[in-house]
Amino acid sequence: SWQTVPLAPPDSIFKLTTAYKNDTFDKKVNLGVGAYRDDNNKPWVLPVVKEAKRILLSDETLDHEYLPITGLPEFTSSAAKLIFGPGSPVLAEGRVSSVQTISGTGANHLGALFLSRFYQWGSAEKKVWLSNPTWANHYAIFRNVGIAPVEYAYYDPKTIGLDFAGFVGALENAPERSVFLLHACAHNPTGVDPTPEQWATVADVMLKKNHYAFLDCAYQGFASGDLDKDAWAVRFFVEKGVALLVCQSFAKNAGLYGERVGALHIVSTSKETADKVKSQLSVLQRSEISNPPTHGARIVSMILNNASMFEMWKRDIETMAGRIIAMRKELFRLLTVELHTPGNWHHIVEQIGMFSFTGISPEQSKALTDEAHVYLTGNGRISMAGLNTGNIRYFAESLDRVVRN
Ligand code: LMR
Repeated sequence: SWQTVPLAPPDSIFKLTTAYKNDTFDKKVNLGVGAYRDDNNKPWVLPVVKEAKRILLSDETLDHEYLPITGLPEFTSSAAKLIFGPGSPVLAEGRVSSVQTISGTGANHLGALFLSRFYQWGSAEKKVWLSNPTWANHYAIFRNVGIAPVEYAYYDPKTIGLDFAGFVGALENAPERSVFLLHACAHNPTGVDPTPEQWATVADVMLKKNHYAFLDCAYQGFASGDLDKDAWAVRFFVEKGVALLVCQSFAKNAGLYGERVGALHIVSTSKETADKVKSQLSVLQRSEISNPPTHGARIVSMILNNASMFEMWKRDIETMAGRIIAMRKELFRLLTVELHTPGNWHHIVEQIGMFSFTGISPEQSKALTDEAHVYLTGNGRISMAGLNTGNIRYFAESLDRVVRN
């Protein structure tokens, strides 16, 4: 049996990690997966996470019982406050159904599954509008639950920036009550976000057309280094009354990639509705994972619920965001001032978050890998966190070479 099963291609992002690990060249550079590295190219366990783990380890009262199906209550409630803001009226009114998920991917999945079951699709085909481009996994996540992905214009290769007219045009032309997946901050893969004024227009059109905002927020803190600033778009949409849900991840901003800590927050128009929504999320979650894992949620909960640890976390986030911004500046300087690399490289410093869309072609991207042992996704995305003071010059020179060829 199984002879008819076709061989699947490896994951477009994680295959880069494997290829990098297997490469024996001493100057190899991994700019593939979006995972923070320190200036020594090492994964960074945040000091605040170390502290939380130390406290957890010495707590004899902790056991390994199941969590409630919807997760650790102190975690989900504080995670909701982090994204909606501590004084958020939707929280005070009990209108948010929050569920602990298997990081941001799990939140996307559970949100998509919930929509697939309960969104009022009417007679329309189930569809989700994804930005072109988006995180490749979005396509698979929605297809898995029977929702067809369609694309809206987002990135303009000519300006290496936002195609705002195309974006708004798609919102205007989509049928009423369409579901739009929006990256709440630090768009993956482009690093190109709308300005607050542009977000306001997007919100207006969403309201006018009764669209649903499926907000994916995997990089809170990474766009500006400030958790509140990066939650601005989410809070603004809530304030405007756009119908929405939020997928939240602590993989990047707490450096807890493998612990799979995240949450799904669905906003309803009343507490009564929110309670019903949560009851259904609980049923869905039960059939999928029964109960979410404890360790990462305990760590994040401790950080969010302890004032001094929260301050420490904010400093850790500034450290990560600051190092990435420093690498953007240095790469820009190397390309423009030192190497005089042909082309306009302003987008390197204008884009935000963990990624930069270099604007190079798939052929040039392949040449970087084949000739210089630099690993990046075929669309020209680089994870800025993979650059450091030791490898940035080698990378800039390699990029310069493929651009000139
Ligand atoms: C990425 O885009 O590199 C990250 O979000 C990691 C992932 O799961 O793909």
